[in-house]
Amino acid sequence: MERTLSIIKPDGVSRGLIGEVIKRFETAGIRIAAMKMLHMSKKEAEGFYAVHSDKPFFNSLTDFMSSDPIVVMVLEGENVISKNRELMGATNYKDADPGTIRADFATDIEKNVVHGSDAPETAATEIKYFFSELEIH
Ligand code: CMP
Repeated sequence: MERTLSIIKPDGVSRGLIGEVIKRFETAGIRIAAMKMLHMSKKEAEGFYAVHSDKPFFNSLTDFMSSDPIVVMVLEGENVISKNRELMGATNYKDADPGTIRADFATDIEKNVVHGSDAPETAATEIKYFFSELEIH
């Protein structure tokens, strides 16, 4: 069993896509082990995306991620990190395979509806950023 962090980003929440995204996870046999809605401060968004702090899009990305509420989830299942990445599609929606969340709904490389951890180490760090062990069921 593997765990990963999923975020429905401000664009996904404000456009009413929470149910659509969760339905795709559950239909794929992924279990939701934890979930909450929160509104990150700019500082919290900068902390979460610290690995991208030297990128030209860092300021805009952290402005966007702290602009409105997000839904964060811990997903659990076999190979859930790669399964979630398949369901999301490529970061740039223009490169995402048809039928993926980003191909279907993203409007912009930044406003790409969802985030998912890219490896077991980042999943562990990202899950800890939002959840204590007691909140994961
Ligand atoms: P995410 O999977 O959350 O990881 C970093 C985010 O930065 C990415 O999704 C996009 O929302 C955003 N981003 C903006 N511009 C770029 C870019 N040129 N390359 C990669 N990610 C970008």
